[in-house]
Amino acid sequence: MLVLGLETSCDETGVALYDSEHGLLADALFSQIDLHRIYGGVVPELASRDHVKRMLPLIRDVLASANRAPADIDAVAYTAGPGLVGALLVGASCAQALAFAWGVPALGVHHMEGHLLAPMLEESPPAFPFVALLVSGGHTQLVRVDGIGRYELLGESVDDAAGEAFDKTAKLLGLGYPGGPEIARMAQQGVAGRFVFPRPMTDRPGLDFSFSGLKTFALNTWQRCLAEADDSEQTRCDIALAFQQAVVETLTIKCRRALKQTRLKQLVIAGGVSANVSLRENLAAMLGEMGGQVFYARPRFCTDNGAMIAYAGCQRLLAGQHDGPQIEVRARWTMESLPAL
Ligand code: KG4
Ligand code: ZN
Repeated sequence: MLVLGLETSCDETGVALYDSEHGLLADALFSQIDLHRIYGGVVPELASRDHVKRMLPLIRDVLASANRAPADIDAVAYTAGPGLVGALLVGASCAQALAFAWGVPALGVHHMEGHLLAPMLEESPPAFPFVALLVSGGHTQLVRVDGIGRYELLGESVDDAAGEAFDKTAKLLGLGYPGGPEIARMAQQGVAGRFVFPRPMTDRPGLDFSFSGLKTFALNTWQRCLAEADDSEQTRCDIALAFQQAVVETLTIKCRRALKQTRLKQLVIAGGVSANVSLRENLAAMLGEMGGQVFYARPRFCTDNGAMIAYAGCQRLLAGQHDGPQIEVRARWTMESLPAL
């Protein structure tokens, strides 16, 4: 089955062609980062308008590079939520219109299920069951995964998502958007131990997270430095490193707890923050000690992309699932409400 996947939930237009027999044939992405950078974050209306401009040329590019024609496509999968409603509607309308014109089924995919399954596109994918740490700009969740659509939420952030904390901390340090890669870059030059941030909610049982306090801690630390007339690049690097270490260690502690609780030894990390090298290294070391293994997607499939939507959609379409012709998207949508395969 050849599936066209479309992703438009936020600020990247992602398109891909996934074949159930031959794997990923082609994928293309247009990132709107330059468009939103001057505002320090995503402007939803600008995002929607840009998705309209990019979508059809990207679909043409992907078809051309895979050497396929519209007549070869068996189904269209698109991100139906969660995300920005206007942006989602662009992908949903486009997917439904193409599916109608081509006489093939369309299926709305859950964006976080897309992220969760992205490591399946890699050479040695994890096997069910496993624990998944989903860390993106909008979500921080620990999930027990027994199969596609068989999700048990073990814990989640009670306030900011991990990626959001990276973005907000970067902003207050005067770094660029998106903040995650910027903090990671600055942290490489940081001196360990100059600042020590708390590890929120690790001193009590449970698998929930809280990251909004870290952003406030970073703000207070930075303001204290400014009051001492220290606004040096080195100080920003030292704060970036202390912040990143706190997030990474907090996530690692909770992942270890989740693995112990479930008695599982495979951990999947997915979503934009799973591109973070320090997080990958820490989790690999922890899983190494436990005799387990950590799985993640290549960096460009950690952040938003069309390939994960084409892949997730294909698995559900193969099982016979598809939507009617209605154009329906959801700003909020829990993954546990998805049907099991
Ligand atoms: O999954 P994603 O592309 O979009 C959402 O679904 O939200 O995740 C974007 C988030 C942003 O907050 C970004 O700062 C963060 O992922 N991110 C990173 C890194 N690369 C992206 N955070 C930490 N380290 C990175 N290398
Ligand atoms: Zn995402």
